[in-house]
Amino acid sequence: MLKMCYPFLLCLLSLQLEANPGLKVRITQKGLDYGRRIGMELLKQAVLKETFPSWSGQESFSFVKVNYRISGLRINTLDFPETSASFIPGTGISLSVARASATISADWRMKAWLLRDQGGITVSISGLFIAVVFEVSRDTTGRLSVLLHNCQLIINSVKVKLNGGSSWVYSFLSHYLEKPIQTKLDKNLCLNIKYKIQMMDAQLRKLKVLSPIDAFAQIDYALVSPPAVFKSHVNLDLKGTVYPVGNHTDPPFVPAPFALPNQDDSMLYLGVSNYFLKSASLAYYRAGLFNITISQELATSFNLTTSIFNDFVPEIGLYHVTAHPVLLKLMATSPPAVSLQADGCSLHITGCVDVFAVLPNSTIQYLFTGNLTASTRANLTVTKQKLIISLLLKRLRFSLLHSIAGFSEQVSQVENFLSYALQSVVIPVINGKLGQGFPLPNLARTVLIRPVMKMNQGHLVISTDVLYKQKGGGDEDLHSHS
Ligand SMILES: *[C@@H]1O[C@H](CO)[C@@H](O)[C@H](O)[C@H]1NC(C)=O
Ligand SMILES: *[C@@H]1O[C@H](CO)[C@@H](O)[C@H](O)[C@H]1NC(C)=O
Ligand SMILES: *[C@@H]1O[C@H](CO)[C@@H](O)[C@H](O)[C@H]1NC(C)=O
Ligand SMILES: *[C@@H]1O[C@H](CO)[C@@H](O)[C@H](O)[C@H]1NC(C)=O
Ligand SMILES: *[C@@H]1O[C@H](CO)[C@@H](O)[C@H](O)[C@H]1NC(C)=O
Ligand SMILES: *[C@@H]1O[C@H](CO)[C@@H](O)[C@H](O)[C@H]1NC(C)=O
Repeated sequence: MLKMCYPFLLCLLSLQLEANPGLKVRITQKGLDYGRRIGMELLKQAVLKETFPSWSGQESFSFVKVNYRISGLRINTLDFPETSASFIPGTGISLSVARASATISADWRMKAWLLRDQGGITVSISGLFIAVVFEVSRDTTGRLSVLLHNCQLIINSVKVKLNGGSSWVYSFLSHYLEKPIQTKLDKNLCLNIKYKIQMMDAQLRKLKVLSPIDAFAQIDYALVSPPAVFKSHVNLDLKGTVYPVGNHTDPPFVPAPFALPNQDDSMLYLGVSNYFLKSASLAYYRAGLFNITISQELATSFNLTTSIFNDFVPEIGLYHVTAHPVLLKLMATSPPAVSLQADGCSLHITGCVDVFAVLPNSTIQYLFTGNLTASTRANLTVTKQKLIISLLLKRLRFSLLHSIAGFSEQVSQVENFLSYALQSVVIPVINGKLGQGFPLPNLARTVLIRPVMKMNQGHLVISTDVLYKQKGGGDEDLHSHS
């Protein structure tokens, strides 16, 4: 990269402008080959379904004016026996089709002086070779853009066969169809491909770079630099910032650089940085996900009453001879700190708890306040194209800050109780809210298969193959096509 940057100042400038990504996606040759197989199959289905407009014309043939009309044009068979796709370093992707063939049928009808006739026609095209190079880039809004870079077409033979009609008609049609079809194809196929690519580009530019996660947060998938195409893969660097819904203010920290492993045995490699998780923690903190009130109704696994605290704050027992329900208001006081290490991911939550008694007349009476620090292990799994995070409490520390009256020096009892409350109520509530998972950057209608996650210091890598799901629901089997 640096070697390619020739004028030093420009190089410095571009280094400053290009932000580090929070997420990385790599598509390997294996992924490209799979995409080509699926793509050719989809192209075939689309072409076979395509309908073409009828056309009519008038030609002079042997001094006779002939009016003709061609209708019902359809492509009956299409065969791509040899296709290949490869990366063109620095440019994009090359796709080539060799020895392709097609048969086209249509109805014809003609009218000349004293003559009327009609019938069917079959056109066989064989020895078709097409090589297309797409250029991939990033537009100013950070979306992927594709452009036709080069299109080359060779057609070996076009043969017209008539069903019905006289030999006179035959010579008319072959004269007016065989050559024109070949020239039309020569001229129009690449133009057509260019048009299709422009449509695809327009589709890509309509894709949302902000993808919703749940009611609280969304992810920015914008490209932070142009796609980097190498001989064996393409790398996409994505912003990978999680924002609270409705607020696109960047977090006060930036991603650290990281690299994907030099492997190519999976179709796709996804790199998730600590920055991504840190921005998610901040977004959920801002959205109030870590503010939770536990009431007696929520605490189904224990009886949340003042009697729990009698020994800890003896005055509570004096105030409340009969036990009253208790409210625990927990809140994080800073964004939980995320740490991604080779041996796992942890989340450190600092916050405080306000404890209240609910009196028989529904008045809420303040009891005490304490600081909390909870160390949790974040269990990361990939399920259904999503990175799912679930927390597991490892350790809880409590310190009393203030209470309505004196308090005992023995905090361990409250600590034990709060650990239990966090484990059985708070963590499940947070996990429930996180349970939707983070959608991983993914191609339309594909599912990840056999994803493998590897944790590293500061980032994790998911290596996976993908499977294309047909619209109807059936899977396009990865291994049954050549
Ligand atoms: C978005 O969040 C930032 C940082 O918390 C805050 O300063 C800003 O006021 C928020 N903007 C809106 C529109 O809520
Ligand atoms: C969380 O609770 C605290 C205390 O009640 C409050 O100040 C803060 O605004 C809450 N945060 C959110 C995002 O609701
Ligand atoms: C919980 O405590 C309240 C108040 O002491 C009591 O009325 C209720 O029966 C208890 N519930 C259970 C399930 O023990
Ligand atoms: C509710 O009951 C408490 C204790 O009995 C009392 O101090 C308080 O004034 C009552 N509040 C209302 C609104 O009646
Ligand atoms: C309680 O937490 C706050 C905010 O995290 C901190 O400023 C304060 O020093 C803590 N107090 C104790 C006694 O730990
Ligand atoms: C992590 O999550 C997976 C899937 O939910 C679960 O099977 C596994 O037991 C969890 N691991 C831990 C340590 O909780």
